[in-house]
Amino acid sequence: MISRSTIQKVNDTADILDVVGAFVKLKKRGANYLGNCPFHNEKTPSFTVSPSKGIYKCFGCGKAGNVITFIQEHEKLTYPESIIWLAKRYHIEVEETAVSQEVKELQQTEESLRIINTFATDYFKNTLHHTEEGQLIGLSYFQERGFRKETIEKFQLGYCLSHQDKLPQEAIQKGYNKDLLVKAGLIYDRNNNLQSVYYGRVIFPIHNQSGKVLGFGARILKSNEKSPKYINTPENELYHKSKTLYGIYYSRGAISKQDECYLVEGYTDVISLHQAGVENVVASSGTSLTEEQLKLIKRLTSNLTILYDGDAAGIKAALRGLDMAIEQGLNVQVVLLPDNHDPDSYVKETGAAGFINYVSQNKKDIILFKLEASLKEANNDSLKKTALINDIAETLSKINKLEDFTKQDDYIRRCSQLLQIDEAGLISLVNKKIREKASKRDESNREELENLEKQASPENTHEQNEVSSLLQKDYLQEKGLLRILLEYGDRPYDEKSTIAEYIKYKIGDTDFTNVEWKNLYHAYLIEWSNTAQYPTLQSFTYNDNEKLRTSAIEALYFPYELSENWEKEHHISTPTREMTLREDVDHTVTYFILRKIKATYYELLESLRDPENEQEEQLTQLAMLDLKQNESELLSYLKVVAIR
Ligand code: CTP
Ligand code: MN
Repeated sequence: MISRSTIQKVNDTADILDVVGAFVKLKKRGANYLGNCPFHNEKTPSFTVSPSKGIYKCFGCGKAGNVITFIQEHEKLTYPESIIWLAKRYHIEVEETAVSQEVKELQQTEESLRIINTFATDYFKNTLHHTEEGQLIGLSYFQERGFRKETIEKFQLGYCLSHQDKLPQEAIQKGYNKDLLVKAGLIYDRNNNLQSVYYGRVIFPIHNQSGKVLGFGARILKSNEKSPKYINTPENELYHKSKTLYGIYYSRGAISKQDECYLVEGYTDVISLHQAGVENVVASSGTSLTEEQLKLIKRLTSNLTILYDGDAAGIKAALRGLDMAIEQGLNVQVVLLPDNHDPDSYVKETGAAGFINYVSQNKKDIILFKLEASLKEANNDSLKKTALINDIAETLSKINKLEDFTKQDDYIRRCSQLLQIDEAGLISLVNKKIREKASKRDESNREELENLEKQASPENTHEQNEVSSLLQKDYLQEKGLLRILLEYGDRPYDEKSTIAEYIKYKIGDTDFTNVEWKNLYHAYLIEWSNTAQYPTLQSFTYNDNEKLRTSAIEALYFPYELSENWEKEHHISTPTREMTLREDVDHTVTYFILRKIKATYYELLESLRDPENEQEEQLTQLAMLDLKQNESELLSYLKVVAIR
C-alpha cells in the first residue's frame, strides 16, 4: 500500500491545471478554466477546471473528479497507479506502508505456490524427456503434431505419468506441503490417499509476463468422452484465469515491436504460430476476453486482431468483449480463417508468409463487421433494426479517448451509411449514450428514490405525485446542505456559532433520504469530532474512500462560469456567494426540515389507512396536526426570507 504521507504529498504538489493542461487545451474563464472535454466528443467546450478547489467537472457528460481521478480516467489506470504516475511526474518518492498480516499471508501463499509450480514444471519436463512412458507417449504426441525439439523446450512442455501415485510421492518426499499441492491443482487428497490430477496428459505451463509459471493446462491424449479435453489449474492465490493470457511472456516483445497482437483460442495455436515465426500472438484459452486481459494487451499495443476459425461460437465470444475492448482504446479487427482451419492447422499449410498475408488481406474492422452481420440478421425487420441502431450507438459511445475522436466521427459516418439513417441523428444518439453513462451513478440514486416512491401511497395518485416530486427534491435539498457544510462549515453563522455548529444543532441526527448524502454528512461529523477541527474540502475531494470522494465532488458548488464580459456588457452584478451565505444557510436548513416534516406527515397518513386502534388513530391525527402547524410556521418564515 502507498503511504498516506505520499498520497498527501502528491495531492499537495500536483497542480490540476498543469496535469489536465497536459491533455486538454484550457482557457481562463472567470475563476475557472474551460476546455474541450477529453471524455466525450464536443465542439463547444464545457469541461471546467477549478484550480482553487483542485477539481474538474464536465457540464456536457457530467464527468467530475480530482487530479488523481483525472489521470485514472484518462490514462486508464487504477487509483494507486495514478498516484504513482503523478509521483513520477513531480519527482516524489513513493513510500509503501508496512503490509498487514493478511497481505503477508497472501504473499506467502503466492510464493509457496510459485515454488511448487517450479518444481512441477521441472518434474513434468523431466518425465517427458527422461522416462520411457514420457518419451513413448508424450514426446511422440508432440512430434506427431509437428512440434520441434526447440519449441518443446522453449514452452517448457511436459508430461504427467499415467501412474497416479508417482507425482504425489515425489512431491511429498521432497517436502512440499500437501494442502498447497492440492491448492496448486496438482493432486487430489482422497482421505489421505494422494493422487495425481493430470495423469496421462501432456502439460502446457502457463506463464505470467515475466516468465513465472502460474499454472498448467493438461491435455488428454486419447479422445475420451468422459474426461474433459483440458484440465486447467483452478483459481488460487497465484493463478487468476481472467488476468492471464497464454503466451504473453514469449510474445510481448514481438507484439510491441509489430504494434499488433493476434488473439487466438488455444495453447497449440500459440505454439504453432511461434514455431512458424509468427510471434505476436496470445491465447484467451477459450473464453471471452476480460478487462484485465485487454489491459495487458493495451500496454503493448493498441491493435488487436482476433483470429477465429469460422464457427459462430468463437465470433460470438469475440463480440461479447467488443465494447470493453473499445473502451480500452483498442482498434479491434477480426479475421475468419478458411473453413475447417484453426490458426494451428492453417499456418502449417501456408507457412508464416502465407499466414500473415491472409490475415492482412482478410482483416475486417470489428464494429463494421458486427454491424453488417446484424443487418443481415435483422433482414429489414424494423423492430430489430431499431434495437440494432441503439446497440451500435452504445458501442460507438465507448470510443471516448482524446486520440480517438476522429475515429468516432469516421465510424458514425460509415455506420449511418450502412444503416441508411441520418448522420446527425446517430451523432446525437451517441452523445446521449455518453451522457447516460456519466449519469449512471446518479441512476442508483434515482432507483433508490423510485423504491421509496413505490412504498408511498399506491392509490391516491395526486398524493403520490406530490410524494414523488418531494423525493426528487429531497436529493437536491440534501445535496445543497452538504455543499454548504463542506464549503463553508468553518465560517461564522452568527456571533455565537459557526455554520457547521448551526447545521448540526438544527439537523442533528435527522435521517437523510439519500445514502450518498447521509454518509457524507456523518463522515463530516465524525472527522470533525475526531480531530476537533473543521474538515477541509480536500479531505473529502481527495478521500481514499471512492464513494465519499465522488459524493463530495458532486456536492460542490461549481458553476458553469459566465464569461468575464457578461457582467460588464449587461450592467448586472451577480451577487457573490459570500454575500448571500447566511440566507442560503437559513433557506437550506429550513427547506430540509420542511421536507422531513412532509415526509413524516405522509408516513403518518399512510399509517392511518390501517390503524391499530382508536387511540392510536387519534394520536396520529394529533401528531399530524402538529406537523401541519410546524409546517405553516416554517413556510411563513420562508416567505419572509424570500421577500427580504
Ligand atoms: N479449453 C479448455 N478446456 C477444454 C477445452 C478447451 O480449457 N475442455 C481451452 C484451452 O485453453 C484450449 C482452448 O480452450 O487451448 C481452445 O480449445 P481447443 O481449440 O479445443 O484446443 P487446442 O489448444 O487448440 O488443442 P488442439 O489443437 O489439440 O485441439
Ligand atoms: Mn486447436
